[in-house]
Amino acid sequence: MSKQNLSDILFDDENDSFVSPFDLFEEWYQQAQEAETDYPNALTFATVDRSGMPDARILLMNGRDERGFVVYMNLESTKGQQLKDNPNAAALFYWKALRRQVRIRGFVEQVSDKEANAYFATRPKGSRIGAHASKQSRPLASREVLLKRTKGFEKQYPDEFVPRPKNWSGYRIIPLEMEFWKDGKYRLHDRVLFKRENANAVWKTTRLNP
Ligand SMILES: Cc1cc2nc3c(=O)[nH]c(=O)nc-3n(C[C@H](O)[C@H](O)[C@H](O)COP(=O)(O)O)c2cc1C
Repeated sequence: MSKQNLSDILFDDENDSFVSPFDLFEEWYQQAQEAETDYPNALTFATVDRSGMPDARILLMNGRDERGFVVYMNLESTKGQQLKDNPNAAALFYWKALRRQVRIRGFVEQVSDKEANAYFATRPKGSRIGAHASKQSRPLASREVLLKRTKGFEKQYPDEFVPRPKNWSGYRIIPLEMEFWKDGKYRLHDRVLFKRENANAVWKTTRLNP
């Protein structure tokens, strides 16, 4: 075993070495990329609307670093509106093949134009055109209307370059809590919660009952 198996350190009560939740996430995510056949970067993204009613949907994580986890969307979509009203969010990764989940709670910050442009440019041309054509979450009279709009943008941008729509960008969810959950025998799962007071504070870890 490699000392680099952070999961073993984390779930060993005798070992009090500090494990960074971001490093542990990285370890689990690498394993998920090998184990999952489809979208290891898929997460359930939960927001709360103005009235306090929760909402959730699947998004893809398309960026991550020591600040947090980045998702991209149309800013005028339902979730975009909800984030404007309430910049708190939760993200949940479930890696079925590994029988693990990572729960994240925190606040969001819109990524810089530079970061959004860089990611947008990596998307296939069809997806870049689609970002222009789709008024995400708003009513659509028919599929025909969407296809017409798509054709219009294809004509407008015949070359490889397609600019990023102003209303399309990313949010970084900056975690204040991250819980690592690993399946255990007889439903006696391992759970460790990392919590911090703010984005600059130190992480505290607590083992939780399953
Ligand atoms: C596997 C999968 C990946 C998805 N990835 C994204 C994504 O990265 N960004 C996005 O805006 N919607 C994505 N969607 C669609 C969302 O689940 C959702 O339908 C859409 O964002 C509209 O949500 P809203 O009306 O709550 O804003 C994905 C759906 C699935 C099933």
